[in-house]
Amino acid sequence: MHLCKTASLLPQDDIEMLIIDNDHAHATISLFGGHVLSFIPKHDNVQRLWLSKEAMLDAQHPIRGGIPICWPWFGAHASESGLASHGYVRTQNWHVVDCADEPEQTVVRLKPSTTQGKGFEGETQLSLVLFIGRELRIQLVTENTGNEPLSYTSALHTYFNIDDINHCELTGLDGDYLDKLQDYQRISTPTPYTFNEETDRVHLVTPESLTIVSGNIKTHIQSNGHDSIVVWNPWADKSKSMQDMEDQGYKNMLCVETAVTQGQQVLPGQSHTLEQVIR
Ligand code: BG6
Repeated sequence: MHLCKTASLLPQDDIEMLIIDNDHAHATISLFGGHVLSFIPKHDNVQRLWLSKEAMLDAQHPIRGGIPICWPWFGAHASESGLASHGYVRTQNWHVVDCADEPEQTVVRLKPSTTQGKGFEGETQLSLVLFIGRELRIQLVTENTGNEPLSYTSALHTYFNIDDINHCELTGLDGDYLDKLQDYQRISTPTPYTFNEETDRVHLVTPESLTIVSGNIKTHIQSNGHDSIVVWNPWADKSKSMQDMEDQGYKNMLCVETAVTQGQQVLPGQSHTLEQVIR
């Protein structure tokens, strides 16, 4: 396939990177995992995404940072142990299906090499559509091509780049969350929402718009097609225990994930879109 004018392919370590450079932004997408690694809008030149300095770019392991695609399940598999956390497409090769230069953005569509894998029965077509301009719009489209209804869980597991987790506020969330670190206990969302410890929370609310404020970096996040927002930071001890994360890395990242954690049904012939917009 012919790439559009603003796109190019560049091998880095063991991975083929798709580079988008247009008038409005610069972005890097790893074709391993269909994984956006970097998004820098040119109007302010601020990197919106965090990528671990220790991330393994070996085309084997999931990449720590950027926007991992969790599909067809989020977290641990619901019934089978031993299956990969967050599903199997983040460790697959994806390819570019089409690419278009538009005045305000570049539009790229990617597909994984297969959507079938152990632990998921559905027959599907999966596409990741990226709209790269002043903002980054990322859509994960799951189409049921089989004859039976299917159910999946998923997340756009975005690692946001922040100035300092100790001076960071997330606005736009309210209600209760389920605390994964306390047996899914239901706890009320703090106001202001700031961070001083390991955080792993499933907020069962669907705000359209959230903002992360940290020093000079203010990032706006819009979500659609989700049933939850997941907020994650591993903090100091867990970071030390993770091979692909530098010890102090947790200070400069916050995951705010547009997620389906409760199970999204898709009827035969229908499709569902999970979307996150970052600006
Ligand atoms: C979050 C989960 O979405 O992802 C956490 O809620 C998990 O429980 C984190 O630790 C990172 O997952 P992984 O598989 O990329 O290490």
